Amino acid sequence: MSAFILDGKAIAAAIKQEIKDEIESKNIKCGLAVVLVGDDEASKVYVKNKIKACSQTGIKSYAYYLQPTAEENELLQLIDALNNDSNIHGILVQLPLPSHISPNKVISAINPKKDVDGFCAQNMGKLFLGETDMLAPCTPSGIIEILKRSNIEISGKNAVIVGRSNIVGKPIALMMLRENATVTITHSKTKDLKSITSLADILIVAAGKRELIDASMVKKGAVVVDVGIHRTEQGLKGDVKFDEASKIAQAITPVPGGVGPMTIAMLLKNTLKAAKDLLEIQ
Ligand code: GUN
Repeated sequence: MSAFILDGKAIAAAIKQEIKDEIESKNIKCGLAVVLVGDDEASKVYVKNKIKACSQTGIKSYAYYLQPTAEENELLQLIDALNNDSNIHGILVQLPLPSHISPNKVISAINPKKDVDGFCAQNMGKLFLGETDMLAPCTPSGIIEILKRSNIEISGKNAVIVGRSNIVGKPIALMMLRENATVTITHSKTKDLKSITSLADILIVAAGKRELIDASMVKKGAVVVDVGIHRTEQGLKGDVKFDEASKIAQAITPVPGGVGPMTIAMLLKNTLKAAKDLLEIQ
């Protein structure tokens, strides 16, 4: 039996339509600033996709491209201007930043109400405290949304997360906990990873290591969510060996077309939420 494919692209399209309908029906003027520092090829593609998605939903995007040599101060000044610009409701600084710029300093400079990535201490802290009214990180929110819209039960399940990044691993662990999963976080120093992943009812892999997870590491009937994305000569690959794992799993996200489009859909959703909160629209 082959696994059910969790079609992130289709679910993201449905969410984008909902956003577009709401923006149109309430006539919301919504603006997202997207900032890219440097010329990292993958980041350029991500930024282009985010800008395109804005135009599909009626969100006005404002793109800012800074040289790889731009000083930290220049970026902080730009963020200050965007914080004070009433046309801008969301600010996204694409990561990673060049090594001479501190991501923490930059993220902390963004007004938490405009922090549509949900990366700042205030938004992360609210997530930690189990609050729901904040801007939450997009990739983990997208994963929860795929599972819920695919009617996958989370409560009481063993969820194993591979990876402990601030962008995915830590926040998805908190969100799965909020959904009453029993959560285990593993990482690059975990001993005998396979003995833990094979217990997962829901396996979420955000390790950033191409095809780390093979079929022997997946429990029969598990739900597998692959957050990895790696450009290879054979096309895009994930952190999971899809061909093998899809023979064991009950359901699996593909790469591409799984988590990636959901991240963008949740970014748009956060931008709409930020705009409604700032403009005091219900
Ligand atoms: N780089 C990789 N993922 C992300 C993300 O979700 N947001 C930003 N800003 N940068 C990223």
